[in-house]
Amino acid sequence: MLIPNLKEAKTRSNKESIVKANEYIINNDLKELGKGKLYFLKTYGCQMNEHDSENIKAMLEDMNFSETKDMEEADLILLNTCAIRENAHNKVFGYLGRAKNLKSRKPGVLVGLCGCMAQEEVVVNKILSEYKWMDFVFGTHNLHKLPQVLEKSIKEHKLNVEVLSCEGDIIENIPVKRDSKFKAWINIMYGCDKFCTYCIVPYTRGKQRSRRKEYILNEVEELVKDGYKEVTLLGQNVNAYGKDLNDNYKMENLLEDVAKTGIERVRFVTSHPWDFTDNMIDVIAKYDNIMPYIHLPLQSGSDRILKLMGRRYTKDSYLELYNKLKTKVPNCSITTDIIVGFPGETEEDFKETLDVVNTCKYDGAYTFIFSAREGTPAAKMKDDVTLEEKEQRLFKLNELVNKYSKENNDKYLDTTVKVLLEGTSEKGEDTLMGYTETMKLVNVKADKKYIGTIQNVKIKEVKTWSMDGIIEED
Ligand code: SAH
Ligand code: SF4
Ligand code: F3S
Repeated sequence: MLIPNLKEAKTRSNKESIVKANEYIINNDLKELGKGKLYFLKTYGCQMNEHDSENIKAMLEDMNFSETKDMEEADLILLNTCAIRENAHNKVFGYLGRAKNLKSRKPGVLVGLCGCMAQEEVVVNKILSEYKWMDFVFGTHNLHKLPQVLEKSIKEHKLNVEVLSCEGDIIENIPVKRDSKFKAWINIMYGCDKFCTYCIVPYTRGKQRSRRKEYILNEVEELVKDGYKEVTLLGQNVNAYGKDLNDNYKMENLLEDVAKTGIERVRFVTSHPWDFTDNMIDVIAKYDNIMPYIHLPLQSGSDRILKLMGRRYTKDSYLELYNKLKTKVPNCSITTDIIVGFPGETEEDFKETLDVVNTCKYDGAYTFIFSAREGTPAAKMKDDVTLEEKEQRLFKLNELVNKYSKENNDKYLDTTVKVLLEGTSEKGEDTLMGYTETMKLVNVKADKKYIGTIQNVKIKEVKTWSMDGIIEED
């Protein structure tokens, strides 16, 4: 049994991360384990987790498991979890209740948990005391050991916890089963060293480890050959790419090299304002295939709160960066993340946040109420803002955010935009959905033959969250 350790998870060395290219191993015995069996995988959290789940699927299918979307018929239930806010936890524990019920009816079912929650001491302690009926828990650092962890659970019939709290390595040979045939996630870095005072990620994902450029560029080139139209470069702080390596190859260089592969669309998330260099902005502006869309988390507009959060920028320096982006990358859309109710946030502080929203008029924003994460510095700060106040602030903020989102979308009415049509829309089989270069969701009534193509679409109707359009034939 290896249980997570918060103190260890916090420590950082200046050692360069180790790249392991043969660490994922699957032998013939492991290939037998899933024969005739079904797995059900549920994913919570950010794009990184979505992508990890694409790795998990490939590993399970290497073991000859097949996927089911119906938990009731599964032989293996795996929850890939997120720890960012308390409600993420609650959802998972709620779901485990359903899994327990199924297991009581079908005792052979294996139930496991992985992802960021697995890296938390509080969670694993709770599982060890209240969820002993579960079969296995493994963390983000040993994702590639899934086959071995599963094998052990099947043999030993008792709860097996294998979570490492190290800085982490880079494992290069994990297989992937991508959800889309047209757009792909690509990890360019793992972990985070920013330690914003409210955030659990540096503890759950380990030290910042940039993948070496050869592996990334090779992955993009393979995707181009396979007909992929879009890649999204993933990391908690993509702008800090390369800062942990000694070769002076930074995000602006990587972005340029990825653009030069000729892939039709390049995206990247998430950009911490701290590491956004002018050179990077110039590269974004120079290449047509780097999409004019930037997710630029603000968190708060108050300098006092930003300092307490450890974000290392001020309201003014954020706005300066925002203006540079808007000037150098014309028509680019910008979205953000905002936290309300950080410990001690006053009405004045909150007004500063509203002020930035009024200035930046974001295309969209993800807004959250502060959630104390055990082990982070902010969890120990005095928090005298009542939940009612926090909820009122969130409501007010959302109203403003929605207003600007709609105003920005309105500008698209009767214009023609390029949309990568990804598949059928929730609206029905005769409607396709896709995103503009600026990341606006568009629904188009069109034949399925257009799936996987980029089309000129004329926008006919605009809503707060999406738009409707028609394909413009040339
Ligand atoms: N790496 C990204 C953020 C990843 S987490 C960045 O630095 O911008 C996604 C978002 O969740 C954050 O931007 C933040 O707005 C929110 N978040 C993180 N920790 C939180 C907490 N403890 N309570 C509430 N929201 C939080
Ligand atoms: Fe969390 Fe800050 Fe790292 Fe983003 S930069 S993942 S908010 S610690
Ligand atoms: Fe959640 Fe972990 Fe992502 S905490 S937001 S799944 S990095």
